[in-house]
Amino acid sequence: MRIAILGAGQMARALGAGWSAAGHDLAIGARNPQQANDTAAHIGGTAYATTIPEAAAFGEAVLLALPVPALSAVLRAAAPHLANRTLIDCTNAYSPDSFAPGSPGFTLTESAVAERIAATAPDAYVVKAFNLCAAEVWSSPTRDFDGRPLAVPLCGDDPAALDTVASLAEDLKLRPIRAGGLAQTRYLEATSAFIVGLWFSGHDARAAFPPLEAAFAVPDGD
Ligand SMILES: NC(=O)c1ccc[n+]([C@@H]2O[C@H](COP(=O)([O-])OP(=O)(O)OC[C@H]3O[C@@H](n4cnc5c(N)ncnc54)[C@H](OP(=O)(O)O)[C@@H]3O)[C@@H](O)[C@H]2O)c1
Repeated sequence: MRIAILGAGQMARALGAGWSAAGHDLAIGARNPQQANDTAAHIGGTAYATTIPEAAAFGEAVLLALPVPALSAVLRAAAPHLANRTLIDCTNAYSPDSFAPGSPGFTLTESAVAERIAATAPDAYVVKAFNLCAAEVWSSPTRDFDGRPLAVPLCGDDPAALDTVASLAEDLKLRPIRAGGLAQTRYLEATSAFIVGLWFSGHDARAAFPPLEAAFAVPDGD
């Protein structure tokens, strides 16, 4: 598949390298040509560096690997090319985008980024994914923790776009979980702020969650 990544930082490198290794063709669109070149070289395979609009035109799926404040301008530049594309949103609107020791955790500058993206690019099919874990986790070969495979919640309204992102998650040896529609993305975003805050405070977030069979919930077979 042809994948565009808009942004050439940590998430572009982590996810892009995995998709390239799985045989996908990538275009890295960034405002800084040197950074785009370096990231394309890091990703390897057929990955090449280009501008943001040209990358958007290339991608059947487009990953937004950008800080939230950059989204409006980048989406405006890419908008003519986004119709009918799977638009993957991995962003987190942390404020600030760093953790202050002793602080109660992360807060968000806005509560529904993926919904705003969908409103800004109404002809694209937005899927929120990959926002919960750090880039280092996505690029690590470790995919199993205490016998529990690492999963990626996916939220979006379009079934075909969800299928595409599920397949891209599987290419990274991750287990996709279809976790609801676009209306659920704001909760996935809030979950990130809360859980990452726990991790940065030194707590094992998973310790707060029993396995499914002990959670008094109905297994869905996903
Ligand atoms: N890193 C993680 O562990 C992680 C995990 C989950 C989710 N996320 C989310 O993923 C997104 C990307 O994070 P990242 O860590 O990859 O960020 P990053 O390493 O800082 O890279 C961000 C990229 O966006 C570009 N950019 C910034 N402002 C721009 C603008 N106004 N116009 C065009 N390009 C712009 C940067 O280019 P310049 O260098 O030119 O500014 C850079 O190429 C963020 O929303 C973050 O919250 C990150």
